[in-house]
Amino acid sequence: MRGYQLVSGASGVYQAEEARISQGVVESDHTGFNGSGFVNYTNISGSYVEWNVESAAAASATLGLRYANGTTANRPMDITVNGTVVSAGRAFNPTADWDTWATSSLAIPLKSGTNIIRATATTAGGGPNVDQITIS
Ligand code: GCU
Ligand code: CA
Ligand code: CA
Repeated sequence: MRGYQLVSGASGVYQAEEARISQGVVESDHTGFNGSGFVNYTNISGSYVEWNVESAAAASATLGLRYANGTTANRPMDITVNGTVVSAGRAFNPTADWDTWATSSLAIPLKSGTNIIRATATTAGGGPNVDQITIS
């Protein structure tokens, strides 16, 4: 089953366009994304994308969030895992243009079972465009 790649902990790639989206739309009008597109966050504070990540055991994992920001301004987001903020107002700085993607990585705690990972825009500009997350 997708999402269950269980030896120890969780690993895998999870597309934003397949996740739960609040105040955002799936688009594919820029190049360089994986899967079938990316999420264009509505330019508003509170817009978010939320993924389910299954883990066989409690573990420390690395979350990589792949994004593009074709503006000249930071598009910060809160990263939460199971409702707990693990990175507040994390910077998603400009990537030159909307076709240029970068990955922001951080350590996150996973519990055994289903984990809910959410990336929520914290300013009126909304989030960057988000392609996918990688758990390793
Ligand atoms: C442009 C771009 C979108 C992006 C938006 C934004 O419209 O095409 O992909 O999401 O800017 O500023 O958020
Ligand atoms: Ca947007
Ligand atoms: Ca994608």
